[in-house]
Amino acid sequence: MAERIWNFSAGPGVLPVPVLEEARENLVSLGDSGIGICEHSHRGKAFLAVYEECEALCREVGGISSDYKVLFLQGGASMQFGMIPMNFLSSDATADYLITGAWSEKAQEEAVRFGKTHIACSSKDRNYCYIPKTVQCSENAAYVHYTSNNTIFGTQWHRMPEVPAGSTLICDASSDIYSRPIDVSKHALIYAGAQKNLGPSGVTLVIIRNDLIERGHKDLPTMLQYRTHSKNDSMYNTPPTFGIYLMGLVFKWIKANGGLVGMEQRNRAKADRLYAFLDQSQLFKATADKDSRSQMNVTFVTGNEELDGKFIKAATAAKLDGLKGHRSVGGMRASIYNAFPIEGVDALIAVMKEFEAKNT
Ligand SMILES: Cc1ncc(COP(=O)(O)O)c(C=O)c1O
Repeated sequence: MAERIWNFSAGPGVLPVPVLEEARENLVSLGDSGIGICEHSHRGKAFLAVYEECEALCREVGGISSDYKVLFLQGGASMQFGMIPMNFLSSDATADYLITGAWSEKAQEEAVRFGKTHIACSSKDRNYCYIPKTVQCSENAAYVHYTSNNTIFGTQWHRMPEVPAGSTLICDASSDIYSRPIDVSKHALIYAGAQKNLGPSGVTLVIIRNDLIERGHKDLPTMLQYRTHSKNDSMYNTPPTFGIYLMGLVFKWIKANGGLVGMEQRNRAKADRLYAFLDQSQLFKATADKDSRSQMNVTFVTGNEELDGKFIKAATAAKLDGLKGHRSVGGMRASIYNAFPIEGVDALIAVMKEFEAKNT
């Protein structure tokens, strides 16, 4: 089999090798069933056991109480951008959006189709290189939406945004879900595409408070109502069975590696090491403000586009893949999700050191 290389992709991103190895076995036959995981009926006993284990582990690892429903949906986080206002906003109401990057912008743009929106804070003035210190919510907002980690700009909320008591707080946690402890009870809904920290693309985790499910509008297509998926345990139609299976394995891996506290320690160690190098470098510079830096996506530049391009080439030659920054910001981005090993961070630093010695 081909050798694995250091994969800094922003998503789909690196997954734990033991998870992939276990999945490889079960692709051909799930346990001793004689049928591969992708070939089992979602209504059959074998898959139902997989589903139940995944759901139970998701709750255990995330500390999710019975006040919440765990859903496995399709359409990515982008579908949630539309489903949320479609269900919970109306033309005479206002939803608050905290705008900290391109993904929060996209979420807000969808909401405008269904009602009014209020921008409670924005860091657009400095190309989203920081997390705003203050948030000004509107009175009686239908809900307040924020993006916990800004994948493109390399910033992250390190404390929860301060919103009025009783707010219906909704979080797009696509790029830092289960990377650190999370207080689910402070949220009404948390959603995340799986393809960064939890599994393959094609499945979206939605953690939604029971009372919110029933508040959703009823005049929507069946598939676009949360209550449909809730009543049917995510099996109103054929669910993304392989994604749910793999997510279950990832939850098991997280649990075996210290749970969310373990993930945070692991992620902090990687991010601290990389930022420490960037802070002393004569050539490379981190782009996000210090107090807003992401532990998941480390964005940096040399200050010279041509040199950035040269560095990415040198990194690719050294088997470091996926370091090119998002097309809207340029430079470099090292995505170091849960499953990314610290040895890969050391490999990146070694290549940066060598490049710096040759280019300064
Ligand atoms: C924070 C965030 N939100 C939403 C999305 C969109 O996710 P999807 O492609 O699953 O629709 C992404 C994708 O990278 C993201 O990083």
